Amino acid sequence: MRAGPVSIPLLGSWEFIQLCWTGGRLEDLCRRLGAKYGPIVFFRIALDTPVVVIRTYDALKVLLADGSKWQHNRKFIIRTLGRLGFNRNKLETLASAECSKLVEDLVELKGQVVNIERDLTGAIANVTLKFIMNFEFESHDPRIGELKEASFHIVRLLANIQSHLDFFPWLAHFSSERSDVKTLARSLDKVSDFIKARIDEHIETLDEAHPRDFIDEYLLQTPKADHDTSIENLLVMLKDLLLGSLEPPPIALSWTILLLAKHPEVQERVRAELTELLGDHRAPTVEDERQCPYTQATIEETLRFVTLTPINRHSTTQGATSLRGYHIPAGAMVLADQHSLHHDPAVWGDPDVFRPDRFLGEDGAKLREQVRAFGFGPRVCLAEAHARSLLFAFLAGLLRRIEFRLPQKGQVATMPVYQVLSRPSETLVVPFPR
Ligand code: HEM
Repeated sequence: MRAGPVSIPLLGSWEFIQLCWTGGRLEDLCRRLGAKYGPIVFFRIALDTPVVVIRTYDALKVLLADGSKWQHNRKFIIRTLGRLGFNRNKLETLASAECSKLVEDLVELKGQVVNIERDLTGAIANVTLKFIMNFEFESHDPRIGELKEASFHIVRLLANIQSHLDFFPWLAHFSSERSDVKTLARSLDKVSDFIKARIDEHIETLDEAHPRDFIDEYLLQTPKADHDTSIENLLVMLKDLLLGSLEPPPIALSWTILLLAKHPEVQERVRAELTELLGDHRAPTVEDERQCPYTQATIEETLRFVTLTPINRHSTTQGATSLRGYHIPAGAMVLADQHSLHHDPAVWGDPDVFRPDRFLGEDGAKLREQVRAFGFGPRVCLAEAHARSLLFAFLAGLLRRIEFRLPQKGQVATMPVYQVLSRPSETLVVPFPR
């Protein structure tokens, strides 16, 4: 038995055709169909391609047991960054230095409204970029804003345009002059130009005895005969890593700070836990994370509550399979409706309440498993450990010195705007030195 709308041969279901026509959002469609058809929804898009949307954790778990396909590039990135200290001591040192600079800047601005996401972006990205391309932005480098804007458009438009054009390739002819397509092309060029400049610098200054970062490691391990294809491959990997550095971590931390500004009692509890463990001056280490259950629970609750990536494309099934009695045909695109997973009342009880306490105690660990903020399956985020440590290090560094308040008492500045990533509608807060 299938749950989902009927479809028109070759064109797909009427709902999908409407989505393409109106430029609507895939997550809205998934949510609408979910409300009507339940936890597993089937529909077809163009060329009769089947799509399966999974909306509960139980159903997702069955699918995860199917195993995963390990990509060559992915393995290389994880192995190389791991060797460079991506998740360990070097990260602590870099994060603590960047965070101290940021704290000093914010202390200077006491009482003024700041756009916290803008300030966080350069500081957080600098830590990751050191490992990848031994690069750091100065605090007012205009390239941060330019690259951030380009990443925003890429993340927003790529998924939208892809979801419409992947399966209706002929639509590209009609839409190629549309401004969205042009914006996407310009944004991709901006990011590529920045990365190509870094690769060229690395090729010129490579010292075989002293690899500095991911780019050097890659150049050293690549046979010279394959130069052009390998540089193209390097560019692809670096684009993913750069977008991963500029977008999700600053947005996640901005969300955390906004939610803490909105819930001062939670902010005070996190600060008390951190101060008790670290005192006023010691920089947090990766090990400290484990000693701060309430801080960790607050980060987890933020990731659940806001669900940074409301819809995740899991995979295309290789062969026909079945899921809880439903037949999933070969070639089906499987989407996980993360927002529904993170807001299932049967699991969370009060999903729309921001309540870090839910992750403490005996049930806390079980609930944690159900937060899939970093995706799942073969395309799960390869930087999860690094990103978690960044969130902890920056939150700990900032909260001990600064109290964050919303610009106006009672003003709700935390409405999400879903554009592939769920972003706060604004990221304005007021820092007060402590
Ligand atoms: C709070 C921080 C982060 C969150 C919530 C996050 C979330 C995610 C999610 C949900 C995916 C899966 C997307 C999909 O299914 O298509 C993903 C993939 C990925 N992320 Fe992250 N991410 C974060 C930080 C980072 C950072 C710092 C980097 C880079 C250093 C990064 C690099 C990547 C890459 C390269 C992939 C693609 C993996 C693949 O396709 O094999 N992410 N991330």
